[in-house]
Amino acid sequence: MRKPYVAGNWKMYTDPASAADLAGKLKLSLSNATWCDMAVFPPFTSLAAVIEILKGTRIAVGGQNLHWEKEGAFTGEVSAVMLKRLGCNMVLIGHSERRTYFGEKDATVLLKIKAALEAGLKPVVCIGETLEQRESGITESVVERQIRAGLSEIPDISEVTLAYEPVWAIGTGRNATPQQAQDVHKFIRNLVSQCWTQDIASNIRILYGGSVKPDNARLLSEMEDIDGFLVGGASLNADSFTAIAEAVK
Ligand code: PGA
Repeated sequence: MRKPYVAGNWKMYTDPASAADLAGKLKLSLSNATWCDMAVFPPFTSLAAVIEILKGTRIAVGGQNLHWEKEGAFTGEVSAVMLKRLGCNMVLIGHSERRTYFGEKDATVLLKIKAALEAGLKPVVCIGETLEQRESGITESVVERQIRAGLSEIPDISEVTLAYEPVWAIGTGRNATPQQAQDVHKFIRNLVSQCWTQDIASNIRILYGGSVKPDNARLLSEMEDIDGFLVGGASLNADSFTAIAEAVK
């Protein structure tokens, strides 16, 4: 039985004060949410404040990106080891905004996953097709390439969580229907069992992301292979993130 998982990607929003305020509200509203695992991904500059507030709670904290080297002359970058020492236990890797705006490729996604696992961070790895790819009927082959090129060199992915986020649904208010999402999630789980083991495939959590809101979360979460959510916009409001966590109960 896979435990539902609800994660909030705060993107480039919040400063330390507003992040601490949001984290404080979540600490209260989600203190009894034992039915799901939870994580938030604040921007780097808000991490310390959020880690401090959520210490000792069931809400994990992670970075939104990392560099695969431990340290070095890489201006503007933050390593997995740095995140870990700050108190993070998670990290987001391969988000479509990183792939689209910052040239992130499957090969760098792979390096980042390796670095995260080595540092003891649990990665949430994002995959998903663009609208053009969906309309040309190549959703499955895109997702398959992202998984094979980005992950299949990793011998054991049991510490990895996957997030299927169709790019056309991110921040657009247009979510995938429960059946559209379920079809891709099922395809991903089958692929995981081919590339790794049946056991890993049955246990790995595959989150859906893309315009998840309190009013569409329940139907999506009822689908067999949808194990929770990576929430963007709606995670910046404590009430809506809490309502989404309630919906996976
Ligand atoms: P959204 O973002 O919920 O605002 O669509 C999801 C994400 O980018 O992870």
